[in-house]
Amino acid sequence: MTGLFITVEGGDGSGKTTQVNMLAEYLRASGREVVATREPGGTGLGREIRKLILHGEDMCPKAEALLYAADRAHHIATVVRPALARGAVVLADRYLDSSVAYQGVARDLGLKEVRDLSLWATDGLMPSLTLLLDVPVSVGAGRVGGTQDRIEAAGTAFHQAVRDEYLKLANEDPQRWCVIDAKGSVDDVAVQVRAAVRPFLEL
Ligand code: TYD
Repeated sequence: MTGLFITVEGGDGSGKTTQVNMLAEYLRASGREVVATREPGGTGLGREIRKLILHGEDMCPKAEALLYAADRAHHIATVVRPALARGAVVLADRYLDSSVAYQGVARDLGLKEVRDLSLWATDGLMPSLTLLLDVPVSVGAGRVGGTQDRIEAAGTAFHQAVRDEYLKLANEDPQRWCVIDAKGSVDDVAVQVRAAVRPFLEL
């Protein structure tokens, strides 16, 4: 039996983590095995990589891209593929589209190169559904607050490029992507998320 792989994407402060947790609870209540996980940091190795990328010393863009890819390779091999093989629903808070938007486009490393790197790292694993929680950059920045990590501190033009790229990716592949207006309340967004997932689970 193979499970279902769903990824959740969006800019910083778009509310992905809250929505992943709410969706996980909702699906568990229907009796499914749900693995809610995230990148970077879905494994022990990944948590070390996460500290390096987000709170370590400054690094060149290629080193950043390779660290995200290393996190992803280990996460897919040791958490996601085994869960899918058991028939679980895997909800990932960010996946390879984050690398495409942040490193490929906003850091200007090249969309194709960065996507190919992730596809190599994961042996080509693609999600069945990707939810884009879309908010204007100013709304996301307002929600982040507090001390910013290295990526959050990258500036408005960087985050605008990320948002634009996500919307472009979604527009190019509407079969896989579902764009959700995430400006509203948590409950309002959760309703849209459930509606998007329902056809994939016959709920
Ligand atoms: P995340 O923990 O999802 O942060 P947030 O909750 O603020 O969205 O992700 C950490 C940061 O890493 C986030 O700023 C986006 C960035 N990121 C990339 O640049 N490339 C990637 O491949 C991934 C997975 C994340």
